[in-house]
Amino acid sequence: MLRRLYKDQPNNFAFTPANLNWAKAQITKYPEGREASAIIPLLWRAQEQEGWLTRPAIETVADMLGLAYMRALEVASFYFMFQLQPVGSTAHIQVCGTTTCMICNAEDLIDVCKEKISSKAHEVSQDGKLSWEEVECLGACTNAPVAQIGKDYYEDLTVDRFGEIIDEFRQGKIPRPGPQNNRFSCEPQNGITSLQDYQRKAGQYNASVDRALDLSDTVRRIDGSEVPVVKPWLVQAGTRSPAENKKSPKRAAKTPTGTMALLKEDLSDHKPATMDGPKAAGADDLKMIKGVGPKLEKLLNSAGFFHFSQIAKWTNKEVKWIDNNLEGFNGRASRDKWVTQAKLLSLGRENIISSCFNTSDVL
Ligand code: FES
Repeated sequence: MLRRLYKDQPNNFAFTPANLNWAKAQITKYPEGREASAIIPLLWRAQEQEGWLTRPAIETVADMLGLAYMRALEVASFYFMFQLQPVGSTAHIQVCGTTTCMICNAEDLIDVCKEKISSKAHEVSQDGKLSWEEVECLGACTNAPVAQIGKDYYEDLTVDRFGEIIDEFRQGKIPRPGPQNNRFSCEPQNGITSLQDYQRKAGQYNASVDRALDLSDTVRRIDGSEVPVVKPWLVQAGTRSPAENKKSPKRAAKTPTGTMALLKEDLSDHKPATMDGPKAAGADDLKMIKGVGPKLEKLLNSAGFFHFSQIAKWTNKEVKWIDNNLEGFNGRASRDKWVTQAKLLSLGRENIISSCFNTSDVL
């Protein structure tokens, strides 16, 4: 499918203050130099604000992330969650046209869209309320044919029911999402043959449908005012709220920056002793420990661990602290028995495990 920028573009774009606040907070989730990773949430928020993704919005997001416009456009044009042209003010309907859905009459659903919305995909209906397109597999093939409308799936569709759903949206109603043929979720149509107790205990609708009904916002767009912007990923100690950190600027100043950014949680009671630098003779080769490769060694060094003798002294709780806090390597210290290995290595004895282990295999 050819995905291009729309021919008519607005002159500019700006996030609302609430959305800007949210977007800036998202960027802080990523390490310095990796801010570009925030591109999808930021593009998504821009689309939620405007209804579709305009060129100025893509460029604004690129500027915020220090990206070339082309890089941002590549992302926006790749994913069909991003709408590069105006969509209906009430709903944009995405009908799956891939194999399973096609076999189950998706083409008939597309005819319904042509009849009730517009003869062409990506063209807004005359009343401005609806638009549609055909998309690739939505990953709900067991419930084919499927359409995504807003943030929910409408499954097991028939021509008649799909037509009714479109009419209901047009009237400002929110039809119940999920299977439309009274299936609970994706069990066999003749009923389940296992886990019957589970289904008996479940409610009338599956959890996704229940949640959608609770929110009743299938097509409502996020506007930035729903949730206060908090940055739990910057809060230390697990038990300290951002407000508490504010009261204690000294402690708050320790939030992840520099070397300690590698440690995501400060359970200070059980944090092993660290050193400012290696002893004069130099750091031990921590890669001798099975499971520690160059990246992990660098991470350990930056966190203040340089010697086998340090690791050999870790208590069980300290190992747990390490397991919980070496971001990206959770559980490694206990899994690979670092303390046992480090004890052998600190005694100058070759660690039988590490001698059999190729450190080039690990990070
Ligand atoms: S083929 Fe339609 S959801 Fe997979």
